[in-house]
Amino acid sequence: MNVDTRTKLSTTTILLHWLVGLLVMGMLVVGVYMANFEVYALYPWHKSLGQLVFLIVLVQAIHRLKNGWPPAVSEYSLAERVLARGVHYLLLVGVLLMPVFGFLMSVFGGNGVAFFGLQLVARNPDPVNVGKVIPLNGPLAEVMNAAHGILGYLLILAILLHIAGAFKHHLLDKDGTLRRMLGAKV
Ligand code: HEM
Ligand code: HEM
Repeated sequence: MNVDTRTKLSTTTILLHWLVGLLVMGMLVVGVYMANFEVYALYPWHKSLGQLVFLIVLVQAIHRLKNGWPPAVSEYSLAERVLARGVHYLLLVGVLLMPVFGFLMSVFGGNGVAFFGLQLVARNPDPVNVGKVIPLNGPLAEVMNAAHGILGYLLILAILLHIAGAFKHHLLDKDGTLRRMLGAKV
């Protein structure tokens, strides 16, 4: 445990946190919106940004593995520490898995994947029904679709809990947890 990080977080931690955090919140909103209202024009953007998030969160996970979690700014109950740490793990691992499930869903579903216009996996067009695709593996595509959806809603719950925790620290405990993540020395 680095003594310095108790009072001030590294620029890397802060930048990665807000970059991943804001992108993921945007991805969740866009994902729910486009899937439920069938806004297919957004799918390529969602897929490309999702892969970008994967690359950034990979850096964040490696940074965490090398440096450990930031120490708490103050003393808290065991229950609170376990809950906070559990939510942090769920957020990090969940955000790593979401793009993997999404990628595999698209590949098995025959829809293909591009990264900002660069084709990574080709579509599998149906020669009979023009505009439709043939799944490479329908059941696996369904499983990945379900995993992507369920984990997405689980992440929304975890993020709401996480934000409630941040504001609990700031408004009730009146400690520096939130200010430290905003770059302040506490
Ligand atoms: C408005 C939204 C958010 C606020 C106010 C917020 C606030 C915070 C604060 C204050 C901490 C430090 C906790 C501590 O010191 O123990 C933290 C840590 C963390 N947050 Fe958030 N957060 C937000 C959104 C997110 C989102 C969307 C994600 C991921 C999807 C996320 C992932 C994490 C992770 C993994 C940590 C552990 C430290 C790290 O690895 O950077 N946060 N957050
Ligand atoms: C951090 C990354 C990602 C997040 C947070 C995310 C989140 C979501 C969410 C919340 C939904 C709506 C689920 C539902 O209502 O059933 C969704 C749908 C979808 N996502 Fe993602 N996603 C991510 C990455 C990806 C990637 C990388 C791909 C593909 C390469 C992808 C492909 C899709 C597709 C095709 C749908 C629509 C599914 C349908 O129409 O049933 N996602 N995403």
